[in-house]
Amino acid sequence: MTYTILTVKAGEESKSLESCGYLWGELSNLKMDRNGLLINLGGGMITDLGGFVASTFKRGIDFMNIPTSLLAMTDAAIGGKCGIDFLQFKNQIGLFRTACLTVVFPDFLETLNEVEKKSGLAESIKHALIIDVDFFHEINDKLRNSNILYKEIIRKSIELKTAIVTEDPLEQHQRKKLNFGHTIGHALESYFLEQKSTIPHGFAVAAGMVCESYISMKLGLLQEEDFESIVQLTQPLYALPLVEVDSINNVVKYIANDKKNINQKHQFTLLNGIGDALINQKVSEELIVESLTYYCNSQ
Ligand SMILES: NC(=O)c1ccc[n+]([C@@H]2O[C@H](COP(=O)([O-])OP(=O)(O)OC[C@H]3O[C@@H](n4cnc5c(N)ncnc54)[C@H](O)[C@@H]3O)[C@@H](O)[C@H]2O)c1
Repeated sequence: MTYTILTVKAGEESKSLESCGYLWGELSNLKMDRNGLLINLGGGMITDLGGFVASTFKRGIDFMNIPTSLLAMTDAAIGGKCGIDFLQFKNQIGLFRTACLTVVFPDFLETLNEVEKKSGLAESIKHALIIDVDFFHEINDKLRNSNILYKEIIRKSIELKTAIVTEDPLEQHQRKKLNFGHTIGHALESYFLEQKSTIPHGFAVAAGMVCESYISMKLGLLQEEDFESIVQLTQPLYALPLVEVDSINNVVKYIANDKKNINQKHQFTLLNGIGDALINQKVSEELIVESLTYYCNSQ
């Protein structure tokens, strides 16, 4: 058995068609056959990119994920979504294909910086908000006591996400709950990507969760005090570069291209209280703008 190490530059910019071209080229030069295995060692950028490259090379070779960031351990490496960004749109090209094996070694977190740890925690907060109110209180308590035990959080997040994706692997129904925070979060990420100022994925998701919780509250689905507790948990942790109120329309334009839209209508996942979520919710553009205005003014 032989192996070769291939590397791509760190950063979301590498989740691109250009990187795919480089990797497909190298696999071809190596004469990788369909019994080959691609091992994706890295954060969510690598597991998304590597999964996509492996799934499309010679109509699909096996791949294995060894996630090294908190976000990849709790979310990106689990559940079989692979893909790349295209034309400034996040995850525009991709497919569903599960890794033949995912191995999580929390010890990799020893070298991960605090910003990236916070970024990863955002997806666990999302899992708690959409499925498990007790997990939400647990995260709150741990943060209050500065007692974050990542192993426990990783285990719980994997358990919650796996239950959903096993039931609905192709995102026809319940899996859509996992998109909470991501409709506006991805629009913010695309907006910053266009400005060549990338932000950690979890920070964009956290901002998206505040906006989409605001929408849930305004539609009478989430109590005001629950909204406040979400804001109190997330605002101190996740500060984004300032989005000027004048730029909100530039963020909203990305929502028009969201993959989840049907007949060009936005499909939101909203909170129905903490620990429960509703999928396929229609939201007016005015309310989306209002939520972003709230977010920008509260930064
Ligand atoms: N497929 C899915 O279901 C899914 C879910 C959530 C997010 N994602 C995708 O995941 C990506 C975000 O993942 P991410 O936050 O891991 O980003 P990332 O892969 O870009 O990693 C963030 C940074 O941490 C560094 N890093 C990773 N592991 C490290 C370690 N052990 N020590 C030191 N540095 C380390 C990376 O080099 C990079 O600089 C986005 O592209 C997002 O769209 C996919």
